[in-house]
Amino acid sequence: MAAAAMSCWGVALGAAVGFPLLLLAAAPCIRRFVAGGRCESAARLDGKVAVITGANTGIGKETARELARRGARVIIACRDTAKGEAAASEIRAETGNPQVVVKKLDLADTKSIREFAASFLAEEKELHILINNAGVMLCPYSKTADGFEMHLGVNHLGHFLLTFLLLERLKQSAPARIVNVSSLGHHGGRIRFHDLNGEKSYNRGLAYCHSKLANVLFTRELARRLQGTKVTANALHPGSVNTELVRHSFAMTWLWRIFSFFLKTPWEGAQTSVYCAVAEELESVTGQYFSDCRPAYVSSWGRDDETAKKLWNVSCELLGIQWD
Ligand SMILES: NC(=O)c1ccc[n+]([C@@H]2O[C@H](COP(=O)([O-])OP(=O)(O)OC[C@H]3O[C@@H](n4cnc5c(N)ncnc54)[C@H](OP(=O)(O)O)[C@@H]3O)[C@@H](O)[C@H]2O)c1
Repeated sequence: MAAAAMSCWGVALGAAVGFPLLLLAAAPCIRRFVAGGRCESAARLDGKVAVITGANTGIGKETARELARRGARVIIACRDTAKGEAAASEIRAETGNPQVVVKKLDLADTKSIREFAASFLAEEKELHILINNAGVMLCPYSKTADGFEMHLGVNHLGHFLLTFLLLERLKQSAPARIVNVSSLGHHGGRIRFHDLNGEKSYNRGLAYCHSKLANVLFTRELARRLQGTKVTANALHPGSVNTELVRHSFAMTWLWRIFSFFLKTPWEGAQTSVYCAVAEELESVTGQYFSDCRPAYVSSWGRDDETAKKLWNVSCELLGIQWD
């Protein structure tokens, strides 16, 4: 009996000491695994112009840093220009590239999107890379200035309108690329045509997933329509990344803090965006979905061409635009 008790204590003690030691020894391997794929391309972007939405922080800021490092003129399109200027001056100082500029863009307001596009088109003669990166997640029920549910309005409709307004410049500058930052969360999404604005029922986690599915479907239909133009459109999942995205949820903010070791850093999270924007082997690849710098599995809803077409038409109606 005493021997059995002793052996139990021995096992417990061994586990208490051994497990943390094992974790410590395995830490570099775990980190390498968590970091995921890396963009190996050394492509330069001198003379190229890139717009990145939500590039004042998180994945967008690291994407801007990488494109600036490669010589691109980078437009940080963000709603908080003070935060944008802070990010831009940090990137300019670190990369030595003076061509990092900030422009005001609030994707929750179509007036702001139109003003951004008008000012961009007046000042910039070319556009080679558009990265639709900005996003919101887990927002309490709220609406954009135009009355769209916030996730749908910012994550999908805002970027849909922005792309529409900038598309001619992308075509004129071809070869050009559109990169839509979606999420693995699209697997949980559905396009609820009967209640797009979540007025009948609303779940903030699902609302995010629906909007990320919309990103995938938009990419699919856009790529189809852009065949032959030398403008490509691809979507991606950046991984689980330690950013401010979870700011609207107290529980998720704490979970993100506690498990930060198991999350990608923003730089690691930016790798697939950079890959889609620059990789030579993707020059003519379009309508695809990537994760960790390689093709990834799209949900069956995300491969539904009929839903993609219907979403396109409904989005045009909601925004009052004609996009054939
Ligand atoms: N982090 C992850 O684990 C993860 C996983 C899958 C997908 N993603 C996707 O990655 C993208 C980047 O997210 P992140 O993780 O880098 O999050 P983040 O750090 O919160 O960055 C989001 C960016 O979007 C901007 N934004 C939000 N609402 C906007 C609006 N109305 N107008 C203009 N900009 C607006 C934010 O601006 P402010 O700073 O002014 O708020 C911020 O710059 C998102 O599309 C997200 O869905 C992230």
